[in-house]
Amino acid sequence: GDVAVLVPAAGAGVRLGPGMPKALRALAGEPLLRHAVRRVAAAASVRQIVVAAPPAQADAVRELLSPVAPVTVVAGGAHRQQSVAAALAAVPDDVGIVLVHDAARALTPPDLIESVAAAVRSGLPAVIPVLPVVDTVKEVGPGDVVLGTVDRSVLRSVQTPQGFRRDVLAAAHASGADPLTDDAGLVEKMGLPVTCVPGSDLAMKITRPLDLVLAEALLRLP
Ligand code: C5P
Repeated sequence: GDVAVLVPAAGAGVRLGPGMPKALRALAGEPLLRHAVRRVAAAASVRQIVVAAPPAQADAVRELLSPVAPVTVVAGGAHRQQSVAAALAAVPDDVGIVLVHDAARALTPPDLIESVAAAVRSGLPAVIPVLPVVDTVKEVGPGDVVLGTVDRSVLRSVQTPQGFRRDVLAAAHASGADPLTDDAGLVEKMGLPVTCVPGSDLAMKITRPLDLVLAEALLRLP
């Protein structure tokens, strides 16, 4: 394998209710993070998985994942971007392709991980899996009044894993750009192309209670 996968899972996260880091919430009796890591480990190109955990929970996370795959656990930082940087620092120099993946996308198929890695291997600096936007999208102003309708044909919903040439991700993180919600955004700001590949419905982000219901139903399918 020539790929390292970074999983920033050091945030507290309250969207599924208070009390537990989002990545450790249970889906069918097992933490989201463990579902996600099992599928990442099943992708043939993956040599190393690095999880950034809340510092106080690094040992617990290591133990939680040991039945599923060998994983490097590092202490996360104060912000997502710092957690990604800490995870990247644990990747050996000879790994040329680095993917960044959300633990909340717990059902992401190994095939999607392979297709993102393959696109980077083919020479692209940065690759993101996307889906078309199905809803009509409005821009809204003060008083909830619609300002206009956005042309959704040019819009995409972005999933993970996002894939990068290692040097590109390292440079993006060294660029000191403002924190963004994704790593590809840092690459865009550097002026390098970010290329879309088809995503997967199974790579949905499991954040709302409804997503958990759907994910549990999907796991029960034969
Ligand atoms: O809370 P938010 O949705 O922005 O977090 C996005 C992702 O970044 C989550 O997977 C969370 O665990 C991770 N994160 C992190 N380190 C932080 C904050 C968030 O790894 N300090």
